[in-house]
Amino acid sequence: MDEVRVAAPAKINLCLCVGPVRPDGYHPLATVYQAIGLYDEVVLRRSTGRSVTVTGQPGTGPTGVPSGPGNLAWRALDVLGAHHRTRLEAAIEIRKRIPVAGGLAGGSADAAAALVGADALFQLRTPLPELVQLATRLGSDVPFCLLGGTALGTGRGELVTPVDIRGDYWWVVLTDPAGLPTPAVYAEFDRLTAGRPVSAPEIPEELLAALAAGDPKRLGAALVNDLQPAALSFRPELGRLIDAGLEASAHGALVTGSGPTVVLACGSAEHAEHVDRTLQREHGTDPAVIASGHVRGARVVGAAA
Ligand code: C5P
Repeated sequence: MDEVRVAAPAKINLCLCVGPVRPDGYHPLATVYQAIGLYDEVVLRRSTGRSVTVTGQPGTGPTGVPSGPGNLAWRALDVLGAHHRTRLEAAIEIRKRIPVAGGLAGGSADAAAALVGADALFQLRTPLPELVQLATRLGSDVPFCLLGGTALGTGRGELVTPVDIRGDYWWVVLTDPAGLPTPAVYAEFDRLTAGRPVSAPEIPEELLAALAAGDPKRLGAALVNDLQPAALSFRPELGRLIDAGLEASAHGALVTGSGPTVVLACGSAEHAEHVDRTLQREHGTDPAVIASGHVRGARVVGAAA
């Protein structure tokens, strides 16, 4: 096999509960991740040297995504190679569709895809728990990007436990061409919470009950993101977008991750299309991405000799 193609889904956070900053600069999290049907495509080809190139569709980047050694996908090959005591060389092409710095873990998804893709290309057969362990060294969201589906995230987000859910979940994903840097949003969270106690993060019981019941309406009412006020201090207009989404009959609305992407909870593809059309008509928004929830994590979708 000389080439593999990997589908790398974006993630959203159905809840993102954030505790007080730790001595290492990270924040303890209690989050529920969900992988959604919005994908980057990552192609790995056997090569005598290593390279990372990034191509993107208009409006979604490649702005800000480093090619070459600065890309997390490059580091993924370092980490996987070191684990097998070998050097892995491949030409990696990242076809971006997930907005950059959007709170959708696009960079982490590409890193997870590079791990899975290199493992297949070089027939390393690394067991999934070992890949997940390697992923923790690449970034807090990378283990979830390997797993996909819906999962609890604790620690700094890297400790993931799958959640069995029922029902269909559909999301109107309102992307934003200008991203927000994650460290700046966490720093703003620290500033906004300075001088008052921040409790240890806990996943709301009601959110898990809604997922177990398969009830998107109930889920919509339980969505929560402690980073949202920090994201809104950079981008107050997102608050109006959230209100507009709720007026347009979405079951719930929130900033995902550190933003600025806003997601609106819907019960079906038709409901999501209706909400999107209403926002375009009444608020002049650009057409949104409509994505189903609970898709599989980064996985090989094609190979060529
Ligand atoms: O883990 P990752 O490299 O994706 O994190 C990027 C940045 O986001 C960190 O350097 C830190 O500023 C912030 N972060 C945090 N607490 C977390 C996860 C990320 O403060 N749990």
